[in-house]
Amino acid sequence: MKNILHIKSGLQGQNSYSTKLGNAIVERLKESHPEVRVKERDLVREAFPHLQSETLTAFFTPEEDRTPENIRAVQPSERAVRELFEADIIVLDVPMYNFNIPSQLKSWIDHIARAGITFRYTENGPEGLVTGKKVYIALASGGVYSEGPNQGYDFIPPYLKAVLGFMGMTDIEIFRAEGTAIESSRADAVERALETAVLA
Ligand SMILES: Cc1cc2nc3c(=O)[nH]c(=O)nc-3n(C[C@H](O)[C@H](O)[C@H](O)COP(=O)(O)O)c2cc1C
Repeated sequence: MKNILHIKSGLQGQNSYSTKLGNAIVERLKESHPEVRVKERDLVREAFPHLQSETLTAFFTPEEDRTPENIRAVQPSERAVRELFEADIIVLDVPMYNFNIPSQLKSWIDHIARAGITFRYTENGPEGLVTGKKVYIALASGGVYSEGPNQGYDFIPPYLKAVLGFMGMTDIEIFRAEGTAIESSRADAVERALETAVLA
């Protein structure tokens, strides 16, 4: 049994290209794994709050000393971290907004990046603790960034590889539905993204 955690952050529901691509990835994974359990988190419908000073206080208060307010503040993060550790495979749907990931997704990342839980500092530097996961990223963008003149603005793949890798998720594969704002490339953007994909 493989547990898939499917994180969605497209604002246009089922019409979002990142969601269509992410769904197609999940369907392919179902074909290659006879038994999968899929947990979906739609960060648009159920947003993670921005970190507040109360959240940080709760993060840094040892579990046994937490007040009811601390417990309330840390709850979204605890749930997100639990779901992350339970997953074998993580599928992240990522629309590009203003050259970056949606703020909803950034907020989720802020809740899963927890010192002492998903990473720790050692004498040899930081160590990621969320290991053994496979991550598929379904990236959708209006323009084309994998080649051509906009390549220098391709910030999302290095950022996600850095922050997920920091937490131990180093096995990352990125699929791109590119040029969704361009009439001629929109229609088959998802199919092209998966053309050469081998998902295991
Ligand atoms: C608020 C907003 C900002 C966007 N910024 C960019 C951008 O910086 N670069 C780009 O190529 N496309 C940009 N787009 C286009 C989206 O990347 C494109 O529509 C993509 O398909 C969105 O993902 P989705 O279809 O999964 O929702 C933007 C769209 C919106 C709504």
